[in-house]
Amino acid sequence: MKTLSEIFKHTLKDIYYAETALTKALPKMATAAGNADLKAAFTHHLDETRGQIKMLDKVFASVGEKAAGEKCDAIEGLLKEGEGLMKEATGLALDAALIGIAQAVEHYEIARYGTLREWAKELGHAEAHDLLSQILDQEKAANATLTGLAVKTVNIAPAKAA
Ligand SMILES: [Fe+2]
Repeated sequence: MKTLSEIFKHTLKDIYYAETALTKALPKMATAAGNADLKAAFTHHLDETRGQIKMLDKVFASVGEKAAGEKCDAIEGLLKEGEGLMKEATGLALDAALIGIAQAVEHYEIARYGTLREWAKELGHAEAHDLLSQILDQEKAANATLTGLAVKTVNIAPAKAA
């Protein structure tokens, strides 16, 4: 039987893997996006994601664990599905598909960070709780940006192809 502390550390490694995978997926999504605002949102979130990995390094250090990723099947599945859509969709449909993929990823992350920060609190890891809450807020903001783009994207012509 695993303890909450072990499950916490495992889930931390799982999200670390997911964030690292995203630093590879987001540049592809930014390149694929036609809408300039969507492109900018992906590029901004790439910077934010790199910062989140640094914050996760601090979370690991604060709980006395070496920072490391462990293969996360959930994010692999979401990104694989996204890659399939990117190959099949074009124009506005592609932008809509990209927003859909990104929001699925954000919702996954929001679920994970929401859980992780509560476990950190439960386990008495105050610094980890604080850092994970900060990341959670960034993910919620990123999701809200995507929702805004999703709502207005149908009214915006895609940026001219480079
Ligand atoms: Fe993230």
